[in-house]
Amino acid sequence: MSEQEIRKGLAGVVVDYTAISKVNPESNSLLYRGYPVQELAAQKSFEEVALLLWKGELPSEAELTEFEATERANRAPDSRVKAAIDLLPLTCHPMDVCRTATSVIGANHPLAEDSSPEANLRKAQELFAAMPAVVAYDQRRRTGLPAVPPREDLGYSANFLWMTFGEEAAPEVVEAFNVSMILYAEHSFNASTFTARVVTSTLSDLHSAVTAAIGALKGPLHGGANEAVMHTFEEIQSTGVDPAAWLQDALAQKKKIMGFGHRVYKNGDSRVPTMRGALEKMVEHYQRPDLLELYTGLEEAMGTAKNIKPNLDYPAGPTYHLMGFATPTFTPLFVAARITGWSAHVMEQAASNSLIRPLSAYNGVAERHL
Ligand code: CMC
Repeated sequence: MSEQEIRKGLAGVVVDYTAISKVNPESNSLLYRGYPVQELAAQKSFEEVALLLWKGELPSEAELTEFEATERANRAPDSRVKAAIDLLPLTCHPMDVCRTATSVIGANHPLAEDSSPEANLRKAQELFAAMPAVVAYDQRRRTGLPAVPPREDLGYSANFLWMTFGEEAAPEVVEAFNVSMILYAEHSFNASTFTARVVTSTLSDLHSAVTAAIGALKGPLHGGANEAVMHTFEEIQSTGVDPAAWLQDALAQKKKIMGFGHRVYKNGDSRVPTMRGALEKMVEHYQRPDLLELYTGLEEAMGTAKNIKPNLDYPAGPTYHLMGFATPTFTPLFVAARITGWSAHVMEQAASNSLIRPLSAYNGVAERHL
């Protein structure tokens, strides 16, 4: 194989078909099962979108009611999962906690070795329900706060905020959180989803695939960027320089500016306008116009200097910050959302499987003998 045939990072390589989502960089659009993500974010709950991703259609009222009951019944943190989390040091990254918790949940699952479509759907729904308790418990234990039991009278997003902060969130905050979950839910063959599909292609189980996907999402070139945005903001604020001056210096040092750029979208990320709208509402709710000024300042400076546009992580980071989430908890929120997309891809891969096993071109030393 010649050097030219190698596409580093699989850039531009179409690996398989998917009916779950369509990313269209030309029109900057993203469809989940045919529906524009902006319409879903404006009108649907995350629970409805989860069912859409898994089943291909929006649920009927009866299907939604049934799923909501399952979700609410599986919210309480499992004592074995809590015990495993307690073994992890407070110095470890919260993504390590999500990864470990998923693995423990998988090992204890009564259908652990069953990868039938029915078992996979059940596992996906239970993991979806269980992850908020993991994220909330971990954020609280890091500040010495006890776990908050779930509330069965609240929807997914309101309950997630309740378990994290121990108080009922304002409706506009719940709405912004719901929007972020929907926007983060699915994005075709990104690195973590592809990881999940690779693991599934070996006929391994759903929890193994999601555990591996969490490892892939942790990296700052992928999900970790939403945290990195907040570090950038803090650095700019602490140095007291304006965003354009900070950027000039960072680019001179050849730094990648987190929250900007995308492998697929080159003219802007389809999800950003909706997430920016949610951020603006939070800026108003929490009376923090300074944060929006910083946001806009850096976005404009990046546009002028490199003509590179923000990705979803750019508005998501400051939104979660305003809601009160600790910065290292941002990527675990992405996990809670993306469990839907990952598990939909696990089911799609399993339904039409072929072992994913690419080739490599050897460029080591020529054959030699002892
Ligand atoms: N800051 C500075 N320069 C950038 C950036 C950036 N954020 N993004 C791209 N560039 C430059 C890059 O230096 C390169 O310039 P040159 O041709 O002069 O070397 C050119 O743009 C092409 O960049 P690339 O890294 O080859 O493009 P890619 O398609 O491999 O990378 C990316 C996509 C997301 C890895 C990259 O844009 C990046 O590192 N961004 C920062 C991390 C980030 O925000 N990740 C979140 C991605 S979206 C949400 C998610 O999936 O989690």
